[in-house]
Amino acid sequence: MYQPDEHRYDRMKFNRCGRSGIQLPAISLGLWHNFGGVDTIENGRIMLRRAFDLGITHFDLANNYGPPYGSAEQTMGYAMQHDLFPYRDELIISSKAGYDMWPGPYGNWGSRKYLVASLDQSLKRMGIDYVDIFYHHRPDPDTPLEETMGALRDILRSGKALYVGISNYPPDLTAQAEQILNSMGTHCLIHQPKYSMFERWVEDGLLDVLRDKGIGCIVFSPLAQGLLTDKYLEGIPEGSRAAKPTGFLKRDQVTKEKVTKVRRLNEMAMARGESLAQMALAWVLRHKEVTSALIGASRVEQIDDAVKATKSAAFSSEELKKIDDILA
Ligand SMILES: NC(=O)c1ccc[n+]([C@@H]2O[C@H](COP(=O)([O-])OP(=O)(O)OC[C@H]3O[C@@H](n4cnc5c(N)ncnc54)[C@H](OP(=O)(O)O)[C@@H]3O)[C@@H](O)[C@H]2O)c1
Repeated sequence: MYQPDEHRYDRMKFNRCGRSGIQLPAISLGLWHNFGGVDTIENGRIMLRRAFDLGITHFDLANNYGPPYGSAEQTMGYAMQHDLFPYRDELIISSKAGYDMWPGPYGNWGSRKYLVASLDQSLKRMGIDYVDIFYHHRPDPDTPLEETMGALRDILRSGKALYVGISNYPPDLTAQAEQILNSMGTHCLIHQPKYSMFERWVEDGLLDVLRDKGIGCIVFSPLAQGLLTDKYLEGIPEGSRAAKPTGFLKRDQVTKEKVTKVRRLNEMAMARGESLAQMALAWVLRHKEVTSALIGASRVEQIDDAVKATKSAAFSSEELKKIDDILA
């Protein structure tokens, strides 16, 4: 029987999620890749256990993570059933709806019909009664924002989610969504945007909105899907995300130009006495608005590596300038 490490909470740093009662671990684990039906379920289970042993209390899912769609939530259900259920109250489990999930007009985007049905399906797959956070996964240009936010509010009231959030919303729409939720007496707990050294759009206004509105921020793909590690320095290794047919990182995204920058960043990380992954995570966490860095992993060693980023030294202004110069 699984017994979690009794020192797990000594190992993790927790940050408050905006103006709320919730604290999230500085490093959270997402199940987008490597936890699907095409992957080895026991590897997924071992990674979830290791993460929890290291104080990672937050696991992030979405209805369509896999492949096939839904299978990452089934893996989470398997891990709950075998290992984690006794610790349900120590966990923050999130799911989302907003991208393609089932055929027809009710299995995508942002209607009340889709969001409510999708969450019911997610709960069944995971074998749990509620998620801690339910997100609208991306803006829907055609559904009135009032309908989507109204669905989130009603989901909260139904008790099937304890908090709600939004993902991939630009700054102006984030402010509007927050206002609508607020007018219905509901707080937007958290925003989930993509942010890494290679993708810096959140710096142009989003973080300001989140700070002003007291919304937390969990940034996804902080390692640019593995590019911001030493993995691709000598080509594309077998078994890596870029080599897999099911991976969202495509071979042609591992460009010479990117690898040249990564090589220089890697040298800088070594000079700081840490891995590039650790430096890249410490870099996104340098903003006080960023509550958590949401990583993915294919092996337990990657989770061990990531968690050490919570002990990284703060960046000097010279170091930050050097990183900007490398990325320019
Ligand atoms: N809201 C959204 O729209 C959205 C979109 C995407 C993702 N997300 C969330 O964000 C989570 C993380 O996304 P992500 O997986 O792209 O994050 P990421 O942390 O940028 O990339 C993870 C990948 O990097 C590689 N890696 C990690 N640590 C490493 C290390 N120490 N050394 C070498 N390689 C390492 C592994 O790839 P290999 O497989 O090659 O080993 C791993 O699968 C997802 O699981 C999901 O929960 C949300």
